[in-house]
Amino acid sequence: MKDKLIIFDTTLRDGEQSPGASMTRDEKVRIAKALERMGVDVIEAGFPVASQGDFDAVQAVAKTVRESTVCGLARALKADIDRAGEALAKASSARIHTFIATSPIHMRAKLRMTPDQVLEYAVKAVQRARKYTDDIEFSPEDAGRSEVEFLCQVLEAVIAAGASTVNIPDTVGYNLPDQFGQLIRTLLERVPNSDKAIFSVHCHNDLGLAVANSLAAVINGARQIECTINGLGERAGNAALEEIVMAVRTRQDLFLCDTNIDTTQIVPTSRLVSGITGFPVQPNKAIVGVNAFAHESGIHQDGVLKERQTYEIMRAEDVGWHANRMILGKHSGRNAFRTHLQGLGIEFETEEELNVTFQRFKELADKKHEIYDEDLQALITDANLMIENERFKLLWLKTTSETGEISTASVVLSVDGIERQAAATGSGPVDAAYKAIDFILQEDTELLLYSVNNITSGTDSQGEVTVRLKKEGRIANGQGADTDIVIASAKAYVNACNKILNPIERAYPQV
Ligand code: KIV
Ligand code: ZN
Repeated sequence: MKDKLIIFDTTLRDGEQSPGASMTRDEKVRIAKALERMGVDVIEAGFPVASQGDFDAVQAVAKTVRESTVCGLARALKADIDRAGEALAKASSARIHTFIATSPIHMRAKLRMTPDQVLEYAVKAVQRARKYTDDIEFSPEDAGRSEVEFLCQVLEAVIAAGASTVNIPDTVGYNLPDQFGQLIRTLLERVPNSDKAIFSVHCHNDLGLAVANSLAAVINGARQIECTINGLGERAGNAALEEIVMAVRTRQDLFLCDTNIDTTQIVPTSRLVSGITGFPVQPNKAIVGVNAFAHESGIHQDGVLKERQTYEIMRAEDVGWHANRMILGKHSGRNAFRTHLQGLGIEFETEEELNVTFQRFKELADKKHEIYDEDLQALITDANLMIENERFKLLWLKTTSETGEISTASVVLSVDGIERQAAATGSGPVDAAYKAIDFILQEDTELLLYSVNNITSGTDSQGEVTVRLKKEGRIANGQGADTDIVIASAKAYVNACNKILNPIERAYPQV
């Protein structure tokens, strides 16, 4: 009988700390539902004290999710813990995750506290959190650079105070796999009451070792991993959920534990998170990149045709790739559309949402005869962006491009319900369209990133455009998809403007 490896997903909290990845309450709820469907054990939904927006998001996730435990983050402070307890009140299963730094540099330079004070705060935080739930997680922040002796002392005290999970973060991604694995083994051996708590790890990817460090920890006795979809997270990100889950599942010969994850939900959830946050997935990304199962070399193709396992250690369909299966055409009806999307794990909350999306599907089917699951995922994200971000809408766009000539663009936007029109010239049609949009909005935003990817193959494929904007220190990502990449570009730009110029609902939490 294998142990259970608990999957704690922090896409909605640490993932949201990626610059520009902030999400609205409704976006968080959509991702939380996908995580629940995937079988994630604990969903860290946010940091309730950070802002009213994040409090509301955690509360909404707690009300919606029934199968997974919902967790809120709190510093080791009374106000943080009370706010987290309040946000989680309606959860069917609630966890409070409280933390305080234990490394010499953090205690001295950041907290300006002595080790004894840190110990006292840690214990008090756990005791306070127990007013709200028995499921308490404690993290000694920057454990990867903390003194082992002090870590043991803190962990023993918080477990005695009632922490049921102790999480060992490599906050700055400094550790190496052997060393980190050894740290977990040492803690399990030296903390006298270590058998009373689950040992968890939370690794950052600054040296590209977050997954390797997490797996080394599991081999040495950790039984919870904190991770994010697509490896999103502060700076270089966190350990990627999909890589952890598939490594453990594929190498059951080496691991004494396994997760409860339904791996067929991995790719749809990855696409959902990428669409909502505007963080594209690199093509060669393990498991969820479009090339992860593509064989280019003739020798490899020949081998796979003769026997798949010659060059494949996992099956694409097991992680949710549908191998570009053509699924619907322009004659498909509303019910077939709804049923097919249900199969992809996409549910509509209102008839209006279904109608808007079906209409957009019909428009796409007129332009593109073969519609694949990837097209549908992009369509859903696009449709949701349009429904949620109402301030600015792209109503009409016309561009010209001709060899040797300057490009022109005419744009009609709806701005707070009023139609506004502008025309501009540019070095190309996208440049011209962006200038026309800027002319209408008259806002000073800085374009940090513009990138185009094709969703499926072929020249009739939809292009998916990602735009990153900066304004007054805030960053927002926008996405748009269309068979016409100039229109996709304009949609992405308008989407990013909606996010950055209408920030009320967004939380921008930073720990
Ligand atoms: O990286 C970190 O240390 C964290 C803690 C809050 C667990 O995100
Ligand atoms: Zn972190």
